[in-house]
Amino acid sequence: MKNILVANPKGGSGKTTLATNLAGYFATLGQQVTLSDLDRQQSSTQWLQRRPASFPLIESHHSKKSSHSTADWLIADSPGGFRDEKLSEAVKQADCVIVPIQPSAFDIGATQEFLNLLMEEKAVRKQKTFVALVGMRVNSRTNSAAKLIEFMDQTNFPVLTSLRNAQVYVTAAEQGLTVFDMRPSLVTQDLEQWAPLLNWIMDTTITIE
Ligand SMILES: Nc1ncnc2c1ncn2[C@@H]1O[C@H](COP(=O)(O)OP(=O)(O)OP(=O)(O)O)[C@@H](O)[C@H]1O
Ligand SMILES: [Mg+2]
Repeated sequence: MKNILVANPKGGSGKTTLATNLAGYFATLGQQVTLSDLDRQQSSTQWLQRRPASFPLIESHHSKKSSHSTADWLIADSPGGFRDEKLSEAVKQADCVIVPIQPSAFDIGATQEFLNLLMEEKAVRKQKTFVALVGMRVNSRTNSAAKLIEFMDQTNFPVLTSLRNAQVYVTAAEQGLTVFDMRPSLVTQDLEQWAPLLNWIMDTTITIE
């Protein structure tokens, strides 16, 4: 099973949006996906409860049998303020950590601190867990987008893509859906923006059973 952790202790950075869409993507491929909600707010669990039965199945981690999961993918959505032991444990178990970051000075400041913590994690230093960054709600050609890219580029981690600020993510969240469940003509640009992230995950986890 391939284990992906979505994390950034900064609240509202886009973790649940990334985690639910990632889960949806692998489900769309016909693979078995378990979504593990580590957040007491239970946003991704509630999203899963809104998911129509007619769309590709995603399992919730709360079902007992998923502790011995035979899923192909385990996608973990973590809470704001996630740190210390819980963070270390989750990073150790993950094959990849995806860090969403929004274009604001507050988000950049908080994320720099988080990336420093991640770099101290043994699993990351020994390249057992791979960390990568994703810009979230990025309106290209804005000054704040340029500052975010500049920030991400000076970290030691790969910068995979930036996802635009778009209503499709809000609608998908409300309906238990993902951009991969929507009419392709509505999400052409979004699917293009997701591609480098999906390719990186595939490449990074290719040797994992
Ligand atoms: N690319 C996007 N375009 C438009 N809205 C977005 C995008 N990404 C996230 N959002 C919206 O931003 C808000 C915060 O996103 P989300 O809930 O995914 O963040 P989070 O990191 O999980 O927050 P928390 O720390 O509270 O768990 C949500 O209302 C979500 O719908
Ligand atoms: Mg969340």
